[in-house]
Amino acid sequence: MDVKVFGVVGSGQMGNGIAHVAAAAGLHVIMNDINREFVDRGLKSIENNLGRAVAKGKMSEEEKGGILGRITGSVELGDFKDADFVVEAVPEIWDLKKKVLQTLDAVVPAGRVIASNTSSISITKLAALTARPEKFIGMHFMNPVPVMKLVEVINGLATDAATTELTVQLSKSFGKIPVEAQDFPGFISNRILMPMINEAVCALFEGVGTPEAIDEVMKLGMNHPMGPLTLADFIGLDTCLSIMNVLYEGFGDPKYRACPLLRKYVDAGYLGRKSGRGFYDYSK
Ligand code: CAA
Repeated sequence: MDVKVFGVVGSGQMGNGIAHVAAAAGLHVIMNDINREFVDRGLKSIENNLGRAVAKGKMSEEEKGGILGRITGSVELGDFKDADFVVEAVPEIWDLKKKVLQTLDAVVPAGRVIASNTSSISITKLAALTARPEKFIGMHFMNPVPVMKLVEVINGLATDAATTELTVQLSKSFGKIPVEAQDFPGFISNRILMPMINEAVCALFEGVGTPEAIDEVMKLGMNHPMGPLTLADFIGLDTCLSIMNVLYEGFGDPKYRACPLLRKYVDAGYLGRKSGRGFYDYSK
């Protein structure tokens, strides 16, 4: 089917990034959140990111205006009644996802796709909350969404071929490179990324090196754009911990045990950049 109206639930870091790339691809986008303040903050973030591209001469003011003009803010899930494709990008809290997905399932016309941007919750389990598991799929964008090329496309047990194909084509139309994965804990991306980050936290915990030393080794020695501790702060330490817990519970294998230091930081409210403190101090 032809996608013209694209819905995004959640206007945070991931949600506004997804709305940005969909609108830049020419779609009409409805970006929803629980209140006007969150929606406005998401819209402001898109405007700032587009403004940087204009300042660098990579985009005209008209193009920027066109993209922003294609995004409508919403605080009612009922606004998705005419949506052709909806991506859920709300925080990784099961009860919240459940409520949002069950409401979307009742609102979005039957036969249209509902996707989740979840970073680790089972797509099969989320799909089972709806009456359309064959039209449910994982569409996992990477942060920062406007910059990162990958979209991990995750097939649930019941996802049909047409849904996968539509999600692949849509990702390509956003200028992304879709890569398919099957539905196992952490999919491909976080099954590999999170144990690496967790191991970096363990190296810090055991005093193998300072945060700076651990990050420099991975940046200079392995050509990673960010060291693993900087990246953990960027992703959010609470998100890293919850993904490690999904891997640990999903595989039942102690190799996925979260480092005690990661737990301690999350307990202390050191969540990374968003809280002003993680492995590094962002308060200034
Ligand atoms: N939104 C939009 N654009 C952004 C941006 C943002 N939040 N942050 C940076 N950019 C743009 C900049 O404007 C700049 O654009 P131009 O090339 O057009 O000038 C470009 O990105 C590069 O930015 P900078 O020069 O400021 O900085 P940099 O070269 O250090 O790159 C980075 C920044 C792209 C974030 C880079 O450090 C990087 O790739 N880091 C790793 C990111 C990563 O691993 N992401 C995946 C996280 S895991 C995940 O998302 C999934 C999960 O489930 C946990």
